[in-house]
Formats: sequence, C-alpha cells, structure tokens
Amino acid sequence: MTDVVVASGLVRQFSSGGIVVRAVDGADITVAAGELVMVLGRSGAGKTTLLSLVGGLDRPDSGTVSVAGEVVEALTGRQRDRFLQRSVGWVFQTSGLIPLLTAQENVQLSLRLAGVDDADLEDRAVEALARVGLRARRFHTAAELSGGEQQRVALARALAKRPPLVIADEPTAQLDSETAGGIMVLLREVSSAGTAVLMATHDRVAVEFADRVVGMEDGRLTAAPTPAPSPPGVART
Ligand SMILES: Nc1ncnc2c1ncn2[C@@H]1O[C@H](COP(=O)(O)OP(=O)(O)OP(=O)(O)O)[C@@H](O)[C@H]1O
Ligand SMILES: [Mg+2]
Repeated sequence: MTDVVVASGLVRQFSSGGIVVRAVDGADITVAAGELVMVLGRSGAGKTTLLSLVGGLDRPDSGTVSVAGEVVEALTGRQRDRFLQRSVGWVFQTSGLIPLLTAQENVQLSLRLAGVDDADLEDRAVEALARVGLRARRFHTAAELSGGEQQRVALARALAKRPPLVIADEPTAQLDSETAGGIMVLLREVSSAGTAVLMATHDRVAVEFADRVVGMEDGRLTAAPTPAPSPPGVART
C-alpha cells in the first residue's frame, strides 16, 4: 500500500532554563493508506511533539517528513496554510468545538476554512456526521452533547475534509472505556476505508485497534511493546 506518511530522522529539541530536551530524538515512521499506526508511550515521551512534526504544526530541527507526497517542513505561506487546512484531519484530547454552534455548524466552519464550496458545505457536513452516527443530532449545539458525542463531532470535522491523513492525539483520554471503545471503532473504520491514521496514546486498551504499534520513550521510537489483552466486549473489527 502507498505510504501517506514518510518521516525520517526527525529531531526536535527545546531549551528552556538552560536545559535542552530532545523531545523527538531521531524518529523514523511511515503510515500507509488504510493503516492505523499507534504511538504508545508515557507522558513526556514526545508523542505530541512527533505528531506535530508529522502534521506540520511544528518544524523539525533536522530530518524530513512528507505527507501525501508533500514535503511538510518545506511548505511556506499559503502552501502551508492549505496543507494544514486540507491534508490533515486532527483530533485532540478535547474536541475544541465551539459550544454555541451546532454540530453541523462546527463541521461546516472547518470545511469553509478548508476552501470547500459553499454549495457543498451542508452535504459534506451531514455525510461526515452520519459516518460517526450523529446525523440525527446535527442541530444540537456542541454544549448539548456529551463528551463522547463531542469527540465524535470532532472526528466528523476531521473526516469531512476527506484528508489523506488523520492524526489523533490521545483522542480517548477523557472518555470512559466504553465511549473510548466507540471512538476506536470509528477510527478503525476510517483507516479501513483507506485513510492513514496516526494516533498517540498511553491507553493500552486502544492498542488492540492498531495495525501497528510503536513504542516511544525519551524521544525515541522503540519496537512494539507487548500488546495488552483484549478487553471484554471490545472486539476488533
Ligand atoms: N514547546 C515546548 N517547550 C519546551 N519543552 C517542550 C515543549 N513541547 C514539549 N516539550 C517537552 O518535550 C517533552 C515531550 O513532550 P510531549 O508533549 O511531546 O510529550 P507526550 O508524550 O505527548 O506527553 P503526554 O502523554 O503527557 O501528552 C517533554 O519533556 C516536554 O516538556
Ligand atoms: Mg501529548
């Protein structure tokens, strides 16, 4: 399968208070179309920093990353804006929805920023909300939805752009295990439908849903850690 993400030799260091932290210390990673790759590591291991480099929110000190054929660290100005708005769908630990807008308005807003034609906004938003099982709730404001439903809207917002890559940074961290399982099932479906999915977690249950798991420790990627046993009632699809 085609590699959507190809990153090699990524290094990102931060210095503050005279201390230099190599948050990412020579990382190589690939994610193919249709693959769900999970980065598993403790707090402070460098997961968010790695995802930010891959998704173009931050630039590496050295190394290179390409996403769907575009060299991310080389993008500037409008090219970079376009990449950020269209090529990567982000899902974070908290949904980041605008509370007083409806689910549909939240999705449409992001599509508008991505340059989707006004005439297509509604259809694209409704289709994405249907994919996460929230078509019937589309006129509810984000504030009226539960935390799990808000995360599903956040996923719909990411998917509506039809990006080649979805990056999810601990998308289940704030959810109970059943709701988290629901989000994982959806991410699994998204990747099986052909999107590359790169996810960070320290939840060993989520690992069950991955095609490939890489460990991360002190900025370095390590061989896959031993998988956790299957949780009862959460079958991998
Ligand atoms: N902007 C920054 N300035 C200084 N240090 C930073 C910055 N961003 C990250 N770091 C440091 O880099 C290291 C890795 O941080 P990162 O957020 O990538 O870890 P993480 O694996 O995502 O952790 P968590 O599971 O808690 O989200 C930490 O030591 C952190 O303090
Ligand atoms: Mg993090």
